[in-house]
Amino acid sequence: IPVPPFDLVVFGATGDLSLRKLFPSLLHRFLDGQIPAQSRLIGVARSDMDTSAFRTLIHDSREEFAPGACVDHAKCEDFLRHVEYVKLDATAPAERWTPLKDALTNGKGNVRIFYLSTAPSLFVPIAQKLGETGLATQESRIVLEKPIGRDLASSRAINDGVGAVFDEQRTFRIDHYLGKETVQNLLVLRFANMLVEPVWSRETIDHVQITVAEEIGVEGRADYYDKSGALRDMVQNHILQLLCLVALESPNSMDADAIRTEKLKVLSALKRIDAKAAPAKTVRGQYKAGLVSGSKAPGYSEEVGKPTRTETFVAIKAEVDNWRWAGVPFYLRTGKRMGTRRSEIVIQFKDTPVPIFGAGAGSPNKLVLRLQPDEGVRLWLNMKEPGPGGLRVKTAPLDLSFAEEFGGVRYPDAYERLLMDVVRGNLALFMRRDEVDAAWKWADALLAAWDENGGEPHLYAAGANGPTQSALMLDRDGRAWWDPE
Ligand code: BG6
Repeated sequence: IPVPPFDLVVFGATGDLSLRKLFPSLLHRFLDGQIPAQSRLIGVARSDMDTSAFRTLIHDSREEFAPGACVDHAKCEDFLRHVEYVKLDATAPAERWTPLKDALTNGKGNVRIFYLSTAPSLFVPIAQKLGETGLATQESRIVLEKPIGRDLASSRAINDGVGAVFDEQRTFRIDHYLGKETVQNLLVLRFANMLVEPVWSRETIDHVQITVAEEIGVEGRADYYDKSGALRDMVQNHILQLLCLVALESPNSMDADAIRTEKLKVLSALKRIDAKAAPAKTVRGQYKAGLVSGSKAPGYSEEVGKPTRTETFVAIKAEVDNWRWAGVPFYLRTGKRMGTRRSEIVIQFKDTPVPIFGAGAGSPNKLVLRLQPDEGVRLWLNMKEPGPGGLRVKTAPLDLSFAEEFGGVRYPDAYERLLMDVVRGNLALFMRRDEVDAAWKWADALLAAWDENGGEPHLYAAGANGPTQSALMLDRDGRAWWDPE
């Protein structure tokens, strides 16, 4: 689908996300010829600078955030000609918004997009101003970064406030995990391969594991993170979205609402975890000082500067209460300062009904989807070990490494696809309001359970795979996390 000319207004343009992800992604799209000539990329922030200084900032951050992209320097300079800057305090009264109005006057016919890369507390005030000033036209779109609130009530307040100016069809709620190549590949793997779907249920699958392990700590975001914690920061959004893509029924088409309706059904079927169930089904952890990749890492409370109960790790035994998945646990786990950066989905199949090769020969099949890094799919099968001796069964992987199979292809950053989808008006990879509500309802119930019966987080050394209680949770079920060396 061709990309129409557009004006993208980025609020919070001098912030981390904007410099690290948004402008580098736009640069890549430009170099691939996807940004039409009349398009403008307008940064808005409070910092006192002009367009030329902002262009210098984008230029200077490019080597760090889009390394190697600028082989053709002339073309990269061309990109900067699309970039403009407007100094504006987004909390200022409507009459002070004239500079942005002026900047947008020449964009007749361009798709108009407002990207709110700001604190969520500014989402509603900015949307209101865009309404009052008339900058939000009938066709313009708004993009909201996560987190959308910190619970159901605050997320509803944001969605109501923004929704008063932008209707649902023009509201793009980003969950950048949905823009990752390998995450989209989940849908293709499941629904473009006839051999997958018949085994994708409680009949054949023993359990599912979803791990998003990070090496990094809170990276100067302690203020935000300490009020949030791993459940709000990663599980309510990214991990539940991954769970949805594993668990959803086949959508009738790739139409945005067809997919989102199926995801909503999964979220609505998630079993609430109450205070009584929480100690057995959840583990909260927090990293203490340790070693990550050979380097000393401070403990979380030292980084925050005070004792704190916020969890930097969480493991959950989630259950999807529907006919396809009843009785199949979805073990979810995410944490900061773990041993290695690794996001993986493991589909663990049941054992064969009769062990004709002897008890314990081989191990049950496992499908491992590696989302990042080193993207690929590995299916563990049992095979006869070569050799003239007895019939020995050995477990070995069918290994599809995307780098080898599709070598030479650059993996676009999630934001590249998502930004272009906003311009094209494709909502499929953005969260619909009812999805966000359903995810918060489940997360709120768990947060309330922890308040009542959560206790202190279990400490784990930075560089470990979370606290031992996380391994014990699976051990009680006779299972174990898949942690390859
Ligand atoms: C963000 C979280 O949404 O996702 C961060 O706020 C986290 O805490 C990040 O580090 C992880 O994203 P990725 O793409 O690096 O896996």
